[in-house]
Amino acid sequence: MKKLILLFGLSILIAITTAVPIILADDCDEIEYMGHDRHDEEESPYEELGDTIGWGAVFFALGAGLPYPFRRFLPKLTKKLPMFKSRISSLIRLLTKKHVLLGLSAIVLMVIHGWIMYLAEGKLDDEGWLGIIAGSLFVIATIPGSILIKNIRVKFARKLHTATLIIAGLTVLIHVVA
Ligand code: HEM
Ligand code: HEM
Repeated sequence: MKKLILLFGLSILIAITTAVPIILADDCDEIEYMGHDRHDEEESPYEELGDTIGWGAVFFALGAGLPYPFRRFLPKLTKKLPMFKSRISSLIRLLTKKHVLLGLSAIVLMVIHGWIMYLAEGKLDDEGWLGIIAGSLFVIATIPGSILIKNIRVKFARKLHTATLIIAGLTVLIHVVA
């Protein structure tokens, strides 16, 4: 129960820290942030740092999510690559064991990335909005995720967790390539 409350509290905190830039964006359009002129076309070091943290978030999210579809194809995969069988299996086992930690770390990195990008650019454009939608979906997915921590057999929570994260993943894809 304590874990559930903690996770719910964390979700609210993340939702608030993600929403605050939206509210500030309307009022502070003309302000220069972190010494970076928003009309400047060159990437500031802050944007580069934000980009790197964004990729870090993608990396952690893939680490959390990919083992599950991979687990399904494991027998076929290890048949084709028998020499890697034990290595692939132990990697998948390790990633699933650390799933919650990886997922929460990804979300923390997303929030830091979003903040840095917003502060560096000094505005929220379509890319930023897509990022906020994606980030919010990741946060929402922690709710069924918290139910799964208590009981991994709750089917609707599994479906909700996965469906929310698939939509979040697709939104990130558009966010990154747009
Ligand atoms: C980047 C974030 C995340 C991704 C991509 C992700 C993805 C997934 C996927 C694909 C599954 C398998 C669902 C199924 O078998 O149908 C799963 C299960 C699960 N997720 Fe997440 N998840 C993430 C974050 C989280 C977080 C933050 C929590 C905790 C609040 C969480 C808790 C769980 C639990 C407890 C399970 C069941 C564990 C198991 O069967 O081994 N996930 N997740
Ligand atoms: C929380 C709200 C978010 C905001 C405000 C935001 C903002 C931005 C902005 C403005 C860019 C464009 C940078 C550029 O054109 O150089 C960007 C790029 C990026 N974002 Fe986000 N983002 C958010 C959420 C996310 C999430 C949830 C992820 C992934 C899980 C993510 C991953 C990335 C990546 C990988 C890039 C591309 C970096 C590159 O071009 O190398 N962002 N973000």
